[in-house]
Amino acid sequence: MKEITKNLQKYFATKDGSFIDELNDKDKIIFIKELSNVYFRDHLYGEYRSDNNIILSSGSVNHEVFNIPEALKFFIKYALDRDWYGYSDSRGRLQTRVALASYVNTFFDNEPYNSENICITMGATASISALFEYISKNKIKRSGQKLSALCAVPNYPPLVKSMAQHFDVELVELNDYTEGSISLQPVIEKIKPETPVIFLQTVINPSGKKISENSLADLIAKTSENTLIILDECHECFGEKVFGPSRARKNVIRVNSLSKEFFMPGMKLGWFIADKKFIDGYYEYASSSYGSPASFFYLLIEGLAIFEMHRQKGIELDKKFFSEYDISSEKLDELFRDYVQQINKNSKAVIDNRLFAIKRLKDAGFEVIEPSHSLNILIYIPGTTDSYTVFLDLLHNTGVSVYPGVLSFIFSKPYVRISPNVERSVLENGLNKIINFYNS
Ligand SMILES: Cc1ncc(COP(=O)(O)O)c(C=O)c1O
Repeated sequence: MKEITKNLQKYFATKDGSFIDELNDKDKIIFIKELSNVYFRDHLYGEYRSDNNIILSSGSVNHEVFNIPEALKFFIKYALDRDWYGYSDSRGRLQTRVALASYVNTFFDNEPYNSENICITMGATASISALFEYISKNKIKRSGQKLSALCAVPNYPPLVKSMAQHFDVELVELNDYTEGSISLQPVIEKIKPETPVIFLQTVINPSGKKISENSLADLIAKTSENTLIILDECHECFGEKVFGPSRARKNVIRVNSLSKEFFMPGMKLGWFIADKKFIDGYYEYASSSYGSPASFFYLLIEGLAIFEMHRQKGIELDKKFFSEYDISSEKLDELFRDYVQQINKNSKAVIDNRLFAIKRLKDAGFEVIEPSHSLNILIYIPGTTDSYTVFLDLLHNTGVSVYPGVLSFIFSKPYVRISPNVERSVLENGLNKIINFYNS
């Protein structure tokens, strides 16, 4: 029998995470990725699929309740009407990269970026996997063996698995929730001069806790330019946006996508920011592997970057940014007004849902790791011993799905994740079912 099947059987038989502790990091990564396949493919959306299930595990929002602004749909339609779906630069269309550079500069005093620091991608999963491959094949002198690289966990299984395909990955747990923000000290202590890559999330999925900006600056300061630091910034939303100046250092690669902050996980769009020389080299990799991102979406990303930059600054739209398009001044005003209104409404709803769920779960006596950012809440239900068992017990007995923390490489405690961005009555119903199941 294959090792992985045996391990899955052992795990489901013992109903506690203890056997995972015995695996080395390489086997842990393979095991957790396979367990997440079982979760999505075989269980939640396989054998136990039901239209009656209340899904509080999506990691995203319910799109029937949380729509993207009409303005963004307008940009997509505008591109379609003009048949803008030809081949393009492998880094993405220049005007779109110019707009993105202006947007990301909004958060810095010294405008550290220009279009040559930006590469448009097909979302974070695709870009991080491509980055690992590109870096391992092109940026590192090797002696044939995989080099030892550091990966902070909790993390997202597909990304950790893709890292392990190119590096000998050492997992470093960051599960100290005693402070308001998370310290990177456990990772900092492991950095060696020869460490090729460090991979971490700046706001952690699933807890929604932010890495301390000072701690991130310390980590960056400890590395030489030969160590590449990949920051997954996808969850850096729905909370204070603070980006310290050291994030703009040459060996830092900042990855983002439209999946979380802008509710478009199925559009598979994003970007990364890096040193110009790194991106120049990456061009060759992109052009000979996937060609380019989907050119059809460039105007969407460009319009979003320009609108969001103005919204963040709280200023009127400067219509000069759209001078090469045939969109009237009145239409631009209308689109921008709608954009600001809808984004503000969505942000408020995300934060309200977060507060509502936190209160309900705390009042019920559950331990809640209160998020400062993003779309999720991490909880521990007293008396439970394994997060996957919590998922199965809840789904079978109440029809509510939660996301087991073990799938995010959380081994210290059986935390489960709740994504509360569904219609309020559905959320209330789902939370009541969870609480009644464990408290009665
Ligand atoms: C930390 C993290 N990074 C990346 C992703 C996926 O990004 P994308 O949808 O852009 O591929 C996820 C999805 O849940 C995530 O949690």
